[in-house]
Amino acid sequence: MTAAPKSMDAIMALCKRRGFVFQASDIYGGINGFWDYGPLGAQLKKNLREAWWQDMIMNPCWGRKGPNGQRVQCVPLETCIIQHPKVWEASGHVGGFNDPMVDCKETKGRYRYDHVMVYVPAGGAAAAGDKPIFAYVGDQPSETKQKKKAEKTFGEVASVALSTIPQPWTRVIGPDAEKPGTLTEPRMFNLMFDTIPGAIRDEANKAYLRPETAQGVFLHFKNVVDSSRVRIPFGIGNTGRSFRNEVTPRNFTFRSREFEQAELEFFCHPDESKAWYEFWRDFRMDWWKSIGLAGENLILREHDKDELSHYSVGTSDVEYRFPFTAPGFGELEGIAHRGNYDLTQHQTHSKVKLEYYDTTRGELLPNGGRKGERYIPHCIEPAAGLDRGALALICEAYTRDDTRPSPEFLKLHPRVAPIKAAIFALMDKDGMPEVADKLADEVFAKFGRYGFIENDAKQSIGKRYARMDEAGCPFCFTIDSDTLKDQTVTVRDRDTGQQQRIGIDKVCGFLTEKLGL
Ligand code: GAP
Repeated sequence: MTAAPKSMDAIMALCKRRGFVFQASDIYGGINGFWDYGPLGAQLKKNLREAWWQDMIMNPCWGRKGPNGQRVQCVPLETCIIQHPKVWEASGHVGGFNDPMVDCKETKGRYRYDHVMVYVPAGGAAAAGDKPIFAYVGDQPSETKQKKKAEKTFGEVASVALSTIPQPWTRVIGPDAEKPGTLTEPRMFNLMFDTIPGAIRDEANKAYLRPETAQGVFLHFKNVVDSSRVRIPFGIGNTGRSFRNEVTPRNFTFRSREFEQAELEFFCHPDESKAWYEFWRDFRMDWWKSIGLAGENLILREHDKDELSHYSVGTSDVEYRFPFTAPGFGELEGIAHRGNYDLTQHQTHSKVKLEYYDTTRGELLPNGGRKGERYIPHCIEPAAGLDRGALALICEAYTRDDTRPSPEFLKLHPRVAPIKAAIFALMDKDGMPEVADKLADEVFAKFGRYGFIENDAKQSIGKRYARMDEAGCPFCFTIDSDTLKDQTVTVRDRDTGQQQRIGIDKVCGFLTEKLGL
């Protein structure tokens, strides 16, 4: 049986209260679709990014061998948010990165056409006669408001997609409108933000904020091959901000207009691409599990053929059951087999050859070498969202247990937890703070680079534990009067609340083992 979904309101309140996530431009009333990270959130996200970097680039796949029996090879890249506008023509984003939208002439609201539903009489739209029918967008306040109005008008109602109602929609009342007939016909809306670099504000100079980090990698495929020793099969990772003018940003940070991606483009010979696709798909599931997303809240879903992006030969999504998607799931990462689409497109548009010359293939020569083979590699792309990742980690970690003195706590995996350890003097006297300071210095020197180390002697110990529980700090070490006699400290485990005593000289060893760093 599935547990009841956690309260998103409670999770968002904790995120604000403890400084994980703030609404961007909060003091001006916020700006829709943009979120900032507070001190704990910024560190959580950094830990997530670094775990990705470590396990995807520096020691890819924890040293697992790929389908070719060799260690996986990857290198990083860091590319600009703004690139030549032709990049996005070649990638298909200018022509294809569009959603059909309907606008409301009364409210100026804009809605994704495929998200708009209407309440009609239970007998169908035709049964409405001359009366209005009521449009809404699921999960939005308009849903309940419009349903009430429709029930008042028709009694029993049914819900159908707006697309099933013939145009013009003269009797349709828009989701936030008062009068009927204000919705326009669907129009294509490009999701890329544009800007004009330089002083001359001329349309011809228009450039775009990148909607994905992936394209930066394809542009430098040749530069990386020519400047480093990587040979096919190998991957190039790129992390950073991407921008999409999402029409209905919603569900906290899940669908934002500015977000961070961590993408790997893994290049291989076409004959090996299926094996590599399966390899990455399976590793990415294992990876998300390793940092704390486990159990029935995480699934791998293979896309149906009609869901595939314009370039994709096969795609699976790692999906997480967020409280706002439950009992369904929301995408955390897509693992796409992109074939040779991107390199081919850039080769055609830029007229620069992006083939790879593989000296390990081709006919066997009398001297024992190979003739070589030229080809455009295939690409497997595990594309993760770091904001969705951080949100999933927080949602998974959020636990409410009313039997505890601190009912709300975050069971964050120690590797991503922003506070790694807390050192507490039980009382602010009798030499305890001095011992705590000395221990904190040692712990800080060893673990400070991975996250916060708290050292606090104020407030009751219960309150201090509660603060650490809410922030997801896995271990608290307390110095008490016994410490002064026998050089031991109490270790309190966040998840169980249980305490044990260990030697003060064993604290760093304990943390090394438990933090898994
Ligand atoms: N290069 C392929 C690509 O960008 P995508 O599925 O569109 O694929 C990859 O994006 C990941 O980026 C998603 O799985 C998601 O985690 C994240 N992402 C995409 N759009 C987002 C948005 N509007 N807000 C937050 N994260 C987003």
